[in-house]
Amino acid sequence: MSEQTYTQGMARPDVDIGGRGRELRPVGERTTLVTGGAGFIGGHLVRALLDTGRKVVVLDVRGFVPEARFAIGEQVDQLPVEFASIGDQARVLDVFRIHRPDEVVHAGMILDPAYLATNRSTAFQVNVGGVINLVEAMIAFDVPRLVNFSSIGVLPRVMYQPIDGNHPILLADAGPGTDFYGSTKAAAEAMLYAYNQALGLDFRTIRPSAVYGLGMNQYVGPIKAMVENAVRGDPAHFELGGAHPRAYTHVRDIAGLVIAMLDASDDADRIFYGSAGGQLVTTTEVAEIVRELVPGADVEIGEELSEAEKPVVALRGELSIENARSQLGWEPHYASIRDGIAQYVEQYRAFHESLTR
Ligand SMILES: NC(=O)c1ccc[n+]([C@@H]2O[C@H](COP(=O)([O-])OP(=O)(O)OC[C@H]3O[C@@H](n4cnc5c(N)ncnc54)[C@H](O)[C@@H]3O)[C@@H](O)[C@H]2O)c1
Repeated sequence: MSEQTYTQGMARPDVDIGGRGRELRPVGERTTLVTGGAGFIGGHLVRALLDTGRKVVVLDVRGFVPEARFAIGEQVDQLPVEFASIGDQARVLDVFRIHRPDEVVHAGMILDPAYLATNRSTAFQVNVGGVINLVEAMIAFDVPRLVNFSSIGVLPRVMYQPIDGNHPILLADAGPGTDFYGSTKAAAEAMLYAYNQALGLDFRTIRPSAVYGLGMNQYVGPIKAMVENAVRGDPAHFELGGAHPRAYTHVRDIAGLVIAMLDASDDADRIFYGSAGGQLVTTTEVAEIVRELVPGADVEIGEELSEAEKPVVALRGELSIENARSQLGWEPHYASIRDGIAQYVEQYRAFHESLTR
């Protein structure tokens, strides 16, 4: 430790990271870089960002999935997409140099828990190192604001409800309940606090829960198959999992919350739950709603939980969205899951028809 640091009495030497006070330009003049923008949430988020008048640049390892193309609509082919891995520092710097973004939303990472557990170095390089590569590029190019996607998967188990931003994520006997997924997310969250506290880098973290809507992934349980099979007239029968309760959140509400977070005032909290708030909904209840909304739907599920879902159920609790309401003025549009599933049914039907046309 240098003498200067010692006399300061703390390990926070002055580090010059450039003009960190750069003002955010008016929304209509901003370019937003969205990592993972070609995926499920990314597609809906890109659409919502374009609707605010922003320009959008996507960084992803792949092109738009068909559902993202559909959610974005006509403008999709005009959008710049940089095929790049967030794990590659040089490439991330190139993307910043080419596009000079004004703000960043980071949703690009590996979700598959089995892949993460078997490819642990990649898990670290992409899910943790990717965030470091991104914030170092933000520092190099003086980009003032980041919204980082974390997850409720950082929670170990419910200690109190509603769960808020102060709920612990490390306990004396347990870490994040989703293992390498939640732990890499938690590590990234912690590193962002280091950049903020020591260097003044601005960031906000969203922890979404059970996101559903057109293009959703399979990790949120049977809801996807229930809705999509019902619309196509196919059966969806599950032996296990009906009692599993989740704080389901419509993807359009996640997009709206991210936009509210990009515009947050400097003194707003750093952690927000991506949730509709309120009571949890079981998969059995989801099945009932699908049967009600899609006449003739052949959807069934047994109550019992599978062995695999038991540890994850321990982290499911009611989530507080109080800070999003009071500090960002944000309200979920789909507070009722019935309304959210009705939107999903309608948009999936239109998407499916577009494929068969
Ligand atoms: N869907 C949910 O319920 C949910 C819940 C909590 C958190 N999240 C978070 O939301 C974000 C988006 O997830 P999603 O549900 O849209 O999943 P998704 O898989 O559709 O999107 C992730 C995107 O990241 C891209 N990606 C993967 N590796 C990359 C790399 N090395 N470099 C750049 N991009 C890479 C993928 O190609 C994909 O398009 C993720 O960070 C995820 O952890 C999702």
